[in-house]
Amino acid sequence: MYKELTELLEKRRSIRKFSDEKVEDGLIENILNVVKFAPTAGNLEDFKITVVKSREIRGALQEVTFVDEAPVVFVFSALPKASSKYYGERGEKLYSIQDATIACTYAMLAVESLGLVTTWVGNFDEKEVKSIIGAEEGEVPVAILPVGYAAEGLNAKAKEIKEKEINYI
Ligand SMILES: Cc1cc2nc3c(=O)[nH]c(=O)nc-3n(C[C@H](O)[C@H](O)[C@H](O)COP(=O)(O)O)c2cc1C
Repeated sequence: MYKELTELLEKRRSIRKFSDEKVEDGLIENILNVVKFAPTAGNLEDFKITVVKSREIRGALQEVTFVDEAPVVFVFSALPKASSKYYGERGEKLYSIQDATIACTYAMLAVESLGLVTTWVGNFDEKEVKSIIGAEEGEVPVAILPVGYAAEGLNAKAKEIKEKEINYI
C-alpha cells in the first residue's frame, strides 16, 4: 500500500495543457466517489463540488484562471456557514476551507490514479468564479481542478524534491 501510494505521489505533476479527448462520465463518478472518503471537521461535509461540463462555462473559467481549457473542471467551494454553526469563527475561517482543500486533494490524487491529469488552481478572483459558476450565497470557491488527458508530447520534468522544514522535538 505504502509503495503504491508513494509511486502515485511521485508520478503526479501539474499539467496545464489538455488534449481534446473527452473525460467519460464514469471517470468523473470515480473521482467524486473518492472524495466521499475525505474527512471533514465534525463530519459536517461543509463543502460543495461544482462539476463543469458546459463548454461555455469551462471557457469562462479558462479566461480567469489562465490554465488551458480542460474537458471537465471541478470547483471546490467551502460552505463556512455550516461550520460556523458548530465551531464558531474557527469553523468558519479555518475548518470549512480545510475541508474543501482536503476534498480537492483527494480528487487530485484520484485524477492521477485514473491516468488523467490536472493542476491545482488557486489563483483566481473569487467573485468572478462565483459569478461564472452561479454560486449560492455563502459558497466560497477555494480551489479549481481542470481535468483531462495530457496534451500529446508533454513530458513533465522529474520533480526536484526540496527538503521540508521538519522540527523533531
Ligand atoms: C494551493 C495551490 C495553488 C495553486 N495555484 C495554481 C494556479 O493558480 N495556477 C497554476 O498554474 N498552478 C497552481 N498551482 C500548482 C503549483 O504551481 C504546483 O503544484 C507546483 O509548482 C509544484 O508542481 P507539481 O504540482 O508538478 O509538483 C497551485 C498549487 C497549490 C498547491
